[in-house]
Amino acid sequence: MNPPTRMIYMNNAATSWPKPHVVLDAVRQSLSLPVFGSGRTTGSQGDDYVTMARDVLSRFLHAGPPEHVIFTQNATDSLNLLIQGFLSEREGDCHVLTTALDHNSVLRPLHEYERQHRIRLTVLPFREGMVNPDTVEAAIQPATRLMVMTHGSNVLGSVQNIRRIGTILHDHGIYLIVDGAQTAGHIPLDLETLPVDAYVFTGHKALFGIPGTGGFYLRNPASVTPVRFGGTGTDSFSLFQPTGMPERFEAGTHNYPGLAALAAGVRYIQTVGIDTIAARAKHQTAFLIHELQQESNIFLSHDHPDLPIITFNIRGIGNDDVGFILARAYGITARTGLHCAPLVHREIDGGSGSVRLSLSWFTTDEEVAYTASAVREIAKNADSSVRPS
Ligand SMILES: Cc1ncc(COP(=O)(O)O)c(C=O)c1O
Repeated sequence: MNPPTRMIYMNNAATSWPKPHVVLDAVRQSLSLPVFGSGRTTGSQGDDYVTMARDVLSRFLHAGPPEHVIFTQNATDSLNLLIQGFLSEREGDCHVLTTALDHNSVLRPLHEYERQHRIRLTVLPFREGMVNPDTVEAAIQPATRLMVMTHGSNVLGSVQNIRRIGTILHDHGIYLIVDGAQTAGHIPLDLETLPVDAYVFTGHKALFGIPGTGGFYLRNPASVTPVRFGGTGTDSFSLFQPTGMPERFEAGTHNYPGLAALAAGVRYIQTVGIDTIAARAKHQTAFLIHELQQESNIFLSHDHPDLPIITFNIRGIGNDDVGFILARAYGITARTGLHCAPLVHREIDGGSGSVRLSLSWFTTDEEVAYTASAVREIAKNADSSVRPS
């Protein structure tokens, strides 16, 4: 196989690349004039990128009033803010649910609270990439107050049945925070009708924004106590944080070049059409899986992902070595090892890690075919007498 002249990027679940040109243009444009932010400048020559991005995100996510979309640094920041804000004023016995599919952005804040004896935590299992809603119902206790769970697994690419799980939780008066880091931009979302209390997104993955942007949708602002305080450019004589949205949760100067980029990324998705993006991802993912299944020593961790995320091991060669060969011999950037979701790896590879390929709208059919051939070639050459490490 002839190596391609340019790098093939198969690590979009970590952060997407390339970005649409309109995204790069938006960053440049936003910095070409002083920013306009009501209450923070007498100038009026620039655009109010923050308000504009809020409108764009709220329409894209069908998230109701734009002020219910809050901007943060990333999904991790959003999850910390929501988890802390939800738990900070709870007293007495407080039981929280999460899942073994979840990312460390969920698991670590919750385990920290558990270590401090502020919550009791139950981690629910998954089978074939899915958390069974019945398992959720069976785990509910009188003191269960909150569930925090991923929408799409960053390792297995499976999308959870949030509608069913959210309905069960709400029937018991339990609050649901959904980590949508891997779903926003990949699948259509209608947050107003989805039974979630908060939905977290990140800017730099499938929404095509740049790092340092993200946020969350919050249905009922009163349900979460603010944990950050500071200047908002409004009600400045008050020494206390304003209670209105979005100021209740946003303090300090926004990353407005990042938010201009995020709005441009979302508009780009709307121009192409999210159904078009999802359909091509489905087709390319199915092709890649079919190809890898032709080699008996390739073990897929999940063979029917809903997202363009394919995770595998090759018997006879360690996952890091596969990644090294893909990069050096074939010019393919993948991700290997543990993908910040340790409990998933416990199930699928005994904690030794795996190779992950993740696609985006910018991944071409030729790149997918080339990658499939490269992985198959590595598998054919692997010493099948050695176990995966
Ligand atoms: C499922 C999931 N949750 C959370 C995160 C954290 O995202 P961010 O980098 O925006 O903090 C990631 C990204 O790796 C993820 O895949």
